[in-house]
Amino acid sequence: MTLSNDKLIHSAIAYITSLFAANAGGHDAGHTLRVYRNAMRISEAEQGCDELVVALAALLHDADDHKLFHTENYENARRFLRENALPDETVEAVIGAIDSVSFSRNQERVPETPEGKIVQDADRLDAIGAIGIARTFAYGGEHGRPMEASVQHFYDKLLRLRDLMNTESARRIAEERHAFLLAYLEELRKETEE
Ligand code: NI
Repeated sequence: MTLSNDKLIHSAIAYITSLFAANAGGHDAGHTLRVYRNAMRISEAEQGCDELVVALAALLHDADDHKLFHTENYENARRFLRENALPDETVEAVIGAIDSVSFSRNQERVPETPEGKIVQDADRLDAIGAIGIARTFAYGGEHGRPMEASVQHFYDKLLRLRDLMNTESARRIAEERHAFLLAYLEELRKETEE
């Protein structure tokens, strides 16, 4: 990416950090930054994607998350893109990628563009492996769920994510994280079984 794109990424990071700090007590800013790093790692290996669109869509993918914000039509993401005077074409590509990721979250639909596929993979990678385990138990604790319910979530969702990856490079990373989940469950079984 060019130097000015670099500056843009830095201001996007500052924007989402303050957005989450003001509206969600900093909640999920860490997730967003990890998704951004995952997305950059995947896009290096994928041909023919627009790296700037991937970066911005990853950084803004939860900026209008319904659980945290009460915005319509990706208002928070659009505000950043507008304030930075990005061409309409880029704005729509970024919003389209974000939309395909959040839409498919509920519908299990595969994003149509390479940028959407990469951001979806990057988001899903953050749900598995060591970080996925930490997030699952943190979420369960926050919602007063018993530990067993969090463990059940591994079987209901986390262990299915490896096979849902869109890109080859994400699948390779998912493979390692999946193996770690299985090793963790095996160890947990040993320690808790009578
Ligand atoms: Ni996310």
